[in-house]
Amino acid sequence: MKDHPSSQNKNLHNVSYTVYGKGKPIVFIHGFAEDGSIWENQIKHLSKYFKIIVLDLPGTGLSRENFPSNSTSIDDFARLILQIADAEELDQITLIGHSMGGYVTLAFAELFPERLNGMGLIHSTSFADTEEKKETRTRSVEFMYKHGIVPFLETMIPGLYSNEFAKKHPQKINEHIKLASSFNVDVLAGYYEMMKKRPDRRHVLEQFSKPVLFIIGTEDKAVLLKDSLDQSVLPADPNVHLLENVGHMGMVEEPELVNKAIEAFVSYITKD
Ligand code: MLT
Repeated sequence: MKDHPSSQNKNLHNVSYTVYGKGKPIVFIHGFAEDGSIWENQIKHLSKYFKIIVLDLPGTGLSRENFPSNSTSIDDFARLILQIADAEELDQITLIGHSMGGYVTLAFAELFPERLNGMGLIHSTSFADTEEKKETRTRSVEFMYKHGIVPFLETMIPGLYSNEFAKKHPQKINEHIKLASSFNVDVLAGYYEMMKKRPDRRHVLEQFSKPVLFIIGTEDKAVLLKDSLDQSVLPADPNVHLLENVGHMGMVEEPELVNKAIEAFVSYITKD
């Protein structure tokens, strides 16, 4: 959000992140085929009450100079979040991740649990990829290299939204396709390879003693509703929001409900 009154754009090893507002810190991690701008609605509202930190993961947004290599992993992104927390001198943060950003959140919770006061999984899962999902990703990567990323994104992105939302807001879908179309094919393919390799992290939820926010869309075609519900009972202190008629993109499809859920969650975990 370029025109936000209190934004400070920063750079750490060519990874760009922006700090908005003041207060208890919340770090937002975007998903696949997105950059930090996907949190626009959350930044606008939540920066009135909290310090919001939003990054562009390597290869996206303003972080394109930090190109992920073949050996980069989801865990490396968790280490990157730690470096940002350290650079900002934040002892404890609330980490909120969308889908692939949720995989990074879970990796962070496994590696550095003491640095979290809570975490939020927005349309994300602690289950590893099934063999079938891995094969689909492999075929998608082949497709991207053969036909280019635009036809891939034109097929993939509309399916992230509920059918009703996609019908009512075609311009939102087009904006999303346009954003992701500017990414390099190696970056998108590299993300798919990283996600294929990530481990099952249900044990992280089981062992996590602090609150966990789950935002689930009943129409999500990317994360199975059954998996979302099954994992939501694993942590000791879950806070579950089931959004009716919402797909995989609650931050865009129902921003007010998502904002309210995050605001209440962070207020609860940071109350003195
Ligand atoms: C995302 O939105 O980040 C993706 O759906 C994650 C995935 O492909 O598993």
